[in-house]
Amino acid sequence: MDDLIFLGIESSCDDTAAAIVCGDGRILASVVAGQTELHSDFGGVVPEIAARAHAERLDVVVEQALSQAGVTLDDLTGVAVTAGPGLIGGVMAGVMMAKGIAAGRSLPLVGVNHLAGHALTPRLTDGVDFPYLMLLVSGGHCQFLRVNGPQDFTRLGGTIDDAPGEAFDKLAKLLALPQPGGPSVEAEAMRGDPDRFDLPRPLLDRPGCDMSFSGLKTAALRLRDQLIAQQGGLHQQDRADLCAAFQTAVAEVLAEKSRRALAASPVPLLAVAGGVAANGQIRAALQQVAAGAGARFLAPPLRLCTDNGAMIAWAGIERFRLGHRDGMDLAARPRWPL
Ligand code: KG4
Ligand code: ZN
Repeated sequence: MDDLIFLGIESSCDDTAAAIVCGDGRILASVVAGQTELHSDFGGVVPEIAARAHAERLDVVVEQALSQAGVTLDDLTGVAVTAGPGLIGGVMAGVMMAKGIAAGRSLPLVGVNHLAGHALTPRLTDGVDFPYLMLLVSGGHCQFLRVNGPQDFTRLGGTIDDAPGEAFDKLAKLLALPQPGGPSVEAEAMRGDPDRFDLPRPLLDRPGCDMSFSGLKTAALRLRDQLIAQQGGLHQQDRADLCAAFQTAVAEVLAEKSRRALAASPVPLLAVAGGVAANGQIRAALQQVAAGAGARFLAPPLRLCTDNGAMIAWAGIERFRLGHRDGMDLAARPRWPL
């Protein structure tokens, strides 16, 4: 089985990505073309613009992945593609590309759930065994998944409103910091005092693993407006202190809910994926929780934590090994719960 070579295609949000991955987990190439600059004037991803950019770039990105890997379409065993959930125009562009290649070369086609791609990444990077707990925290997602098998996930809880990355991005906007907000808020927070402002810890008073982040952003907005009313503007230190308070609140909520998830469903490993996993304070808090529960903590390399084609190729390989194949009727799905 280890001579499998899959092409993976991802286009469900604002990254056009393709990768070539082997059955033994070797990543021969992983190409990601981001679109941040196309959306930067609009304060968020514009679905129409994203779809057009994916359609324009997919063949170039696939071509680059093949040439970097030193393989041709004839060397492939199969084609895996994100079939949802995501922005439908982008998902359709990827699915059409994958169908074209699969039909043209008589290759098996495997549709992959984007969230399964993230959730199975620890098996690609570290070959971990089932079951494990995955905290997926990105700009669009926030959920705890108990990963029991390649197609067997139990959702233990998730955000009831914003994803944490989205909240970081909105805070950055409020404070006139550059996008994406996560890295700029983290940089500010380094110089800030997390105790100067008192921000809420939403839903910690309720049992379970559901989370909420929109209230934090609203509380930060109120504090910002109070400071502006009192001082006529924001000082550099105010920004830093607000960022530090915000980041600490997010880290504490994620840590406490992870502790509960591990207590409710004990497993030997807590893994994290998504762009927010880049945050040092959040990582450290999660690491501590895992250690307290006697579990290992795993954060895959960031380029495999954020959207990429390698995780899709790998999830496709896992599904393929279970005998899963899709036909030319594979549909692009805007919503697709695991
Ligand atoms: O996984 P990702 O690249 O894309 C999706 O959302 O699918 O995650 C991007 C999100 C953005 O909201 C960004 O602000 C956040 O991850 N992010 C961070 C950090 N780096 C990126 N959030 C907190 N701290 C960071 N260092
Ligand atoms: Zn993603």
